[in-house]
Amino acid sequence: MDKTANPDHFKSSEDDNPRHVAIIMDGNGRWAEQRGLPRSAGHRRGVETVREIVRASKDFGIEYLTLYSFSSENWTRPKSEISELFALLKLFVRRDLAEMHKSNVQLKIIGEREGLPDDILALLDEAVSLTANNDGQTLVIAFNYGSRGEIASAARRIAVKIKSGELQPDDLDTERISNELDTAGIPDPDLVIRTSGEIRLSNFLLWQSAYSEFVFVDCLWPDFDKSAYHAAIETYRNRTRKFGGLALDTGS
Ligand code: IPE
Ligand code: IPE
Ligand code: MG
Repeated sequence: MDKTANPDHFKSSEDDNPRHVAIIMDGNGRWAEQRGLPRSAGHRRGVETVREIVRASKDFGIEYLTLYSFSSENWTRPKSEISELFALLKLFVRRDLAEMHKSNVQLKIIGEREGLPDDILALLDEAVSLTANNDGQTLVIAFNYGSRGEIASAARRIAVKIKSGELQPDDLDTERISNELDTAGIPDPDLVIRTSGEIRLSNFLLWQSAYSEFVFVDCLWPDFDKSAYHAAIETYRNRTRKFGGLALDTGS
């Protein structure tokens, strides 16, 4: 084990509620196909679920919510579907930003800026700067995000610092890598939920989820709701997190 690893990095919150929930929102296309509708109909319904889950997170006292909205691999989909997904992100930000700001939500974006259209970048920048001083819940949107790309970019930035002499190779530890990722300053997810029955990470928060608990649910994202979310959190609360150590006896 890296001797410099900071144990606080893996420290769970004081009570058994997850502090950070990260969600792979999957199954919009299948939801639509089951109804004989175009995939875009599923994505539109998926935005309704996003709204419900953001509100529910506040009710459940979740400090950080990360939503996987567009992966770096989703560029392989048809152009028309990509345009629809971008349009829906814009619609969501335009419609919900005011309410989120009023609720003291801080918005953060993780993912590659490169390749995104200027109007999307401008809107995301506006949302991030408007809410920058909010100190309630943090909503992290993973957009054009891929974990391997994120780690490679971090490695590149570190290499530049080493080359310039700003950093020595021996200074490189897990904490420093964490601090170079898009998620710097955001605690690791305690709970990762994936809907739609797929049991894989699809390049989501690979580094950050080293000690996360995973809950995979069969329901498709448009059908996921506050009660399904509550059930996933209950499942998490019944898990024993050990972080490589021994389970703490909380009874004494
Ligand atoms: C999730 O639903 C939304 C995104 C990946 C953007 P999908 O579009 O992946 O839906 P399925 O997996 O095809 O059902
Ligand atoms: C993961 O879902 C990406 C998002 C939810 C944004 P995908 O539907 O793209 O993942 P795969 O292709 O099934 O692994
Ligand atoms: Mg999918």
